[in-house]
Amino acid sequence: TGLVTLDSGFMNTATTTSQITYIDGDEGILRYRGYPIDQLAAGSSFLEVAYLLIYGELPDASALEQFTTRVTRHRLLHEDFKSFFTAFPANGHPMAILQSGIAGLATYYQHTLDPKDPEQLELATVLLLAKVPTMIAYIAKRALGLPLLYPDSSRGYVEDFLRLTFHLPYQDKSVDPVLTKALDMLLILHADHEQNCSTSTVRMVGSSHANIYASIAAGVGALSGPLHGGANEAVLSMLDAIKAGGGDASDFMRRVKDKEDGVRLMGFGHRVYKNYDPRAAIVKDAAHEVLTQLGSSDELLDIAMGLEDIALHDDYFIERKLYPNVDFYTGLIYKAMGFPTQMFTPLFAMGRLPGWIAQYREMIADPTTKIGRPRQVYTGEGERDFVALDQR
Ligand code: CMC
Repeated sequence: TGLVTLDSGFMNTATTTSQITYIDGDEGILRYRGYPIDQLAAGSSFLEVAYLLIYGELPDASALEQFTTRVTRHRLLHEDFKSFFTAFPANGHPMAILQSGIAGLATYYQHTLDPKDPEQLELATVLLLAKVPTMIAYIAKRALGLPLLYPDSSRGYVEDFLRLTFHLPYQDKSVDPVLTKALDMLLILHADHEQNCSTSTVRMVGSSHANIYASIAAGVGALSGPLHGGANEAVLSMLDAIKAGGGDASDFMRRVKDKEDGVRLMGFGHRVYKNYDPRAAIVKDAAHEVLTQLGSSDELLDIAMGLEDIALHDDYFIERKLYPNVDFYTGLIYKAMGFPTQMFTPLFAMGRLPGWIAQYREMIADPTTKIGRPRQVYTGEGERDFVALDQR
């Protein structure tokens, strides 16, 4: 059976080669297909970045237009699918509904399930990019009991997502371009992050040749955890709790450092970054800008900056190289935009979708891919004889 090495949490084990995303955690560098994240955040758009991640190169104007048209055309959900959103309790967590919904797409698009057929995989790629935002908007609407709108193909991808999420049928006002621009940029920042927990899950599930919907649904499940994407929601709950306690963060920080009840400073720390997360730096600037533009001053932003300031000058955090990660400031922007806290992690999923798709496709196309099947180090009982029930 050969020598088995124990590496709990994959601290030092690469599970794949990849050409998609490069991270240098010590230097705080992140690049998609070679392009620095700050340049993409400043100059690109989310669908363009999706194209880049999935196909490997930036599109020219006509390629981008074609891609956008294809995605836009598929943004409607099957009418029967709408009853799905009312099949769950209205206060059920959106991530649970989203995970089920994405897995369920496989039942509507059975002609797109074979990952080894490039045409099917190509169509599934477009269908996912098209339908997941519609699904997320409908989940948000359903939680409030509000009517669902149809996608409007004349509007941009992010703009129309915001309209579907927030507008009512009798409202025909346009979407605030400040919101559209800010959300587009946040989605770019989330679009890929190499072999994190959810992406590794997508690859692991897909390595059995499970279809892309099943694989990405599994990734959504992984993302929901508070140590991963669920951290953006957990940060807001943490800030709310500090505010409710009078706004003084020092007692909370003492509990974090004493590891009281395992409490952590959510939105801090990262397996790979041992420096400032380059995404967090961009989000922090955006938080100031967006909150100012929306005219919504937020006491929670002051608390968050206070926490960061304490942490960056405290030995506990310095020694462990704990810096703000992407989740630390995003929730404040989502909140200012009007999203309920439970919708924060679905927004992360919407952003990460192109990354999951690109990684699944890279895994399927790689002839060296084998089914993911980790080994273990057994620490249980040795052989022993069965004892009949009446003799135990
Ligand atoms: N607050 C307080 N202490 C921390 C924190 C934190 N946020 N993060 C790590 N530590 C401590 C940890 O207790 C340990 O201390 P010691 O050496 O004394 O045992 C040390 O730092 C190393 O931590 P670890 O848990 O071994 O590190 P990891 O690489 O396994 O975990 C992490 C990475 C992101 C899960 C962790 O830093 C964490 O739980 N952070 C809070 C949750 C969070 O913000 N997650 C979002 C991650 S970024 C994007 C995303 O995936 O969403």
